[in-house]
Amino acid sequence: MRSHLCGEVNETLAGQTVTLCGWVDRRRDLGGLIFLGLRDLAGIVQVVIEPESDAFAGAERLRNEYCVRLKGTVRMRPESQWNEDMATGKVELVADEVELLNASAPLPLMMTEEDGEEVRLRYRYLDLRRPRMQHNMRIRAKLNQAIHKHLDGNGFYEFETPILTKATPEGARDYLVPSRVHAGQFYALPQSPQLFKQLLMMAGMDRYYQIARCFRDEDLRADRQPEFTQLDMELSFVEEPDVQAAAEGLVRAVFQDVLDVELPQPFPRMTWHDAMEEFGSDKPDLRYPMRLHSVDEHVSHLEFKVFSGPANEDGQRVAALRVPGGAQFSRKQIDEYTKFIARYGARGLAWIKVNDVEAGIEGLQSPVAKFLDDKAWRGIAAQTGVQSGDILLFGAGDWLQVSTFMGHLLVRCGEDLELAVEGWAPLWVTDFPMFEWDEESGRHMAMHHPFTAPQSDSPEDLVNNPGQALSKGYDIVLNGAEIGGGSIRIHNPEMQAAVFKLLGIGDEEAQAKFGFLLEALKYGCPPHGGIAFGLDRVAALMAGEPSIRDVIAFPKTTTAQCPLTDAPSPISDSQLDELHIGVKTKPE
Ligand code: AMO
Ligand code: AMP
Repeated sequence: MRSHLCGEVNETLAGQTVTLCGWVDRRRDLGGLIFLGLRDLAGIVQVVIEPESDAFAGAERLRNEYCVRLKGTVRMRPESQWNEDMATGKVELVADEVELLNASAPLPLMMTEEDGEEVRLRYRYLDLRRPRMQHNMRIRAKLNQAIHKHLDGNGFYEFETPILTKATPEGARDYLVPSRVHAGQFYALPQSPQLFKQLLMMAGMDRYYQIARCFRDEDLRADRQPEFTQLDMELSFVEEPDVQAAAEGLVRAVFQDVLDVELPQPFPRMTWHDAMEEFGSDKPDLRYPMRLHSVDEHVSHLEFKVFSGPANEDGQRVAALRVPGGAQFSRKQIDEYTKFIARYGARGLAWIKVNDVEAGIEGLQSPVAKFLDDKAWRGIAAQTGVQSGDILLFGAGDWLQVSTFMGHLLVRCGEDLELAVEGWAPLWVTDFPMFEWDEESGRHMAMHHPFTAPQSDSPEDLVNNPGQALSKGYDIVLNGAEIGGGSIRIHNPEMQAAVFKLLGIGDEEAQAKFGFLLEALKYGCPPHGGIAFGLDRVAALMAGEPSIRDVIAFPKTTTAQCPLTDAPSPISDSQLDELHIGVKTKPE
């Protein structure tokens, strides 16, 4: 039907006759001339229809989003009208044939950035026509292509794993599917292919990958969807550096292929402890030129109990954050930050504006300056490298809590003052604790998942000191987003049993839930490990989108609904009967 794509029409085609298909992006009538923007996947080209043309009457009837086929001659625009920002910006098509392929009803949305989320998702097929969304979806497709190309060429094989399966614990609730044939029994949709990829290693498949859909019923945010896509990988006969090298090689190749970007080699690495201590986050964004400083030694002698208390207590800290240029913050803004960190449990935010660093304590403006002495201030100033015009923000109290809220504050101030340096900052975070203590349930939870190996090979060591145990887990972070996580797995049945026990999973429950895995571990399981990337997050970063919804063709809202299909929706009584299900509260 067409000879070229709209976005391909440029000066090399000047004088030639072309036939294009696409949608009317906009139409303007100018003194007898009709101008159209004609849009397809490749871009937009300007079309002119002159009054004496046979096409004129047809063109007059066109409206936005009419689907048309146009034939005409490519002509150079006068130089004064060149648009250097567009590939087609130096030419226009003088159309002499207009064929209406399909009219469009009046549009239910503006098809601009101003459209709301609900209407965009309801009419997603229109929203996706926009160049920005076309670009995003194509970045995503290129990402998948680059992954296949790299992994297929590096000894990995793609295997599929079941979607109707048994629960895999990754820390979220399961989506369940009732069985018609087995009354009262349910499949779970996989939270990840974790157990199957381990079984594939036990099956001698050696190097596996899969672009896999995962399902998690959890609270949604900009970076979380109820169904999302992982690039899942697993390797046999490996230790942490082997998996990390394979993953890093992949990320580097993919960024080269899709964005023509060269990432550093090797990626920097940081232990979980250092990441929390210096950045207050397990996913530090190294683009911000800021870090947390423990200033305990400088304030431990002060009368000011807010500081000296935590400074002298094990497991507590006084953390200082230097914000370059932050002396400009108003009282209102500081109050706003205090409220912001209160959400993470902070009881206050001490601050010091440094008006003149040469003047010592005299040069400070702060509600807490009066509690400081020269020794304390000199120590803090030297350690933080504070300059005139900066602000120092302080958090004091429990080590993990203070680190966490100060970490959020670091990113918030960095965003507000636009302090991020341009570019890509990848990072490995390693040496995670095996467990985190959950106050609510009063028990240990796996920091990664229950199949992650501890650093010590002795189940006894682990049982004796679970709170101190570190794991063979690692996360890969890019510009402050956790884009992937993985670990070396437990390949010894005693160790797996010990971990289940520490997690409060009794023998019976372990058998019922993971009996098949425990049994498989008995038959010569190879040492193995792997990683999974959140592909939606990688695609969003590549596309420069803050939300993964903008790189997913048909995403769900933050309440896990699809406004387009209206899922989830009620089902008929007869279907419920067939599934042996009674619904307690039926929707209206
Ligand atoms: P994990 O649970 O860390 O590990 O998931 C791996 C990566 O998947 C992405 N991700 C999500 N993306 C969008 N929406 C969600 N709801 C969501 N949840 C997770 C994140 C995360 O880093 N089986 C292990 C991997 C392994 O050990 O090999 C796993 O699933 O980017
Ligand atoms: P207070 O003695 O509670 O009035 O606090 C004196 C100053 O210390 C105020 O500026 C508080 O915001 C600040 N502050 C209080 N608790 C903390 C804390 N845990 N961490 C940091 N600053 C705090």
